Amino acid sequence: MMNDKVTIDPWGSSQSTDYSRIIEQFGLSSMDNVALSNPSRLHRRGIVFAHRDLDVVLESKRKGDSFGVLTGLMPSGMMHLGHSMVIDQVKWFQEQGGDVTIAVADLESTATRGISLAEGRRIAAEEYVSNYAALGLDPEKTTVYFQSERSIVQRLGFQLGKRTNLSELEAIYGFDGSTNLAHVQAPLVQAGDILHPQLDEYGGLRPVVVPVGVDQDPHLRLTRGLASKTNWFNVNEAKMGLQVGVSVQEENSAVMGVEANGRVDKEKRKLIFSRIVEAISSLGFSDIMSNPKHGTVNIPSATSRDKVSIRMALLSLERSLGGMGLLAPSSTYHRFAVGMTGDKMSSSKPKTTLFLSDDIATAEKKIKKSYSGGQATVEEHRRLGGDPDKDVAYQYMMYFFEEDDKFLAEINEGYRSGKILAGEMKQLCIERATEWLTDLSSKRDQNAHLVDRFFQ
Ligand code: TRP
Repeated sequence: MMNDKVTIDPWGSSQSTDYSRIIEQFGLSSMDNVALSNPSRLHRRGIVFAHRDLDVVLESKRKGDSFGVLTGLMPSGMMHLGHSMVIDQVKWFQEQGGDVTIAVADLESTATRGISLAEGRRIAAEEYVSNYAALGLDPEKTTVYFQSERSIVQRLGFQLGKRTNLSELEAIYGFDGSTNLAHVQAPLVQAGDILHPQLDEYGGLRPVVVPVGVDQDPHLRLTRGLASKTNWFNVNEAKMGLQVGVSVQEENSAVMGVEANGRVDKEKRKLIFSRIVEAISSLGFSDIMSNPKHGTVNIPSATSRDKVSIRMALLSLERSLGGMGLLAPSSTYHRFAVGMTGDKMSSSKPKTTLFLSDDIATAEKKIKKSYSGGQATVEEHRRLGGDPDKDVAYQYMMYFFEEDDKFLAEINEGYRSGKILAGEMKQLCIERATEWLTDLSSKRDQNAHLVDRFFQ
């Protein structure tokens, strides 16, 4: 049905794969229009399919400015191939110069999965971080922390809670009167995770990108909304150029010159406006029209491309005046690889995925039994060809194991035309998976001594 709505439930067990509809319904931007100078395998193959405000991060990189990367892991089971996709993206951003922070969602895991904090701690180190070291994240440029131990994250979550209410959480997550309150708190703590790297103690104001599976987008929508609600200044397109407006709030009314009786202190107001003008002229604009009475500042010669730099200048002004000065996070989203059985990939159903610690015999067995895009008989397959889009063995080569685009295109074509049989595709996948898992396991051993450094 045309008006069917896709729902995204970060805690749910099903997941829509109608990616173009997800893009449209939730206002994501397609990656199709983003030109990357050195795209990774996941970019080249359209697996990272959408983003929010990625241009803000790319612009920082282009100018040689700093940017941060933040993601999180739920310490509730074993790390599988699906989880490694986030790390592939993190690694790519790290190679582009981003500083990396990774949240262990131990509070969320206690609240929503019943995992004790101690158990979450063990799982994070043994299952996840040991694989991060093996996958090549640089421990010197990566910090892994626990939600339960960073009080600033929890404090931020609490403060931001003031900017939302149950109706909004109901609308975003489908919560209702029976929703456990720990479940209500989890997204606020996650907003704290996402925004805290911008705080002065954790690297200061800079763009932060959050690479995630699209199931996490509700958290990003919430967080972006919360950040912009705290902003003292906003930048919008005007008839001519850009216009800055001020947002007078309880927190800033004194600074903005609003007295207890509601009267405006004109001198104070003027002072704020001269600070705005000063901040914008430091970027090189000269035609600035300040209108303290209307509460606006116009910059007719500014274009939408200047929005980010003006916004950054105003966020730093806000900080110097005592505000939080939070920039809405950027994000990138990857598609989900299909589970090996053809259903959703899930840690709780071992047959649906390869765990990074699976031994070769187990991997081989799973791949042999995996869902095939081949025809029922060899004769039919030769005549009609197979469907690589449905074939798990081919899909896993594309998502995880095969780096060479040319070879991948060849086997895609060979499968489609019936030249390559389903069993042969599985055999190829087994060979590549064997190499990949063997290599990973030896790197896990080699790099085991690095695990502690990720937590420092
Ligand atoms: N909620 C995430 C998950 O279920 C884990 C997480 C916690 C996270 N904090 C985050 C992800 C911040 C991205 C950014 O996997």
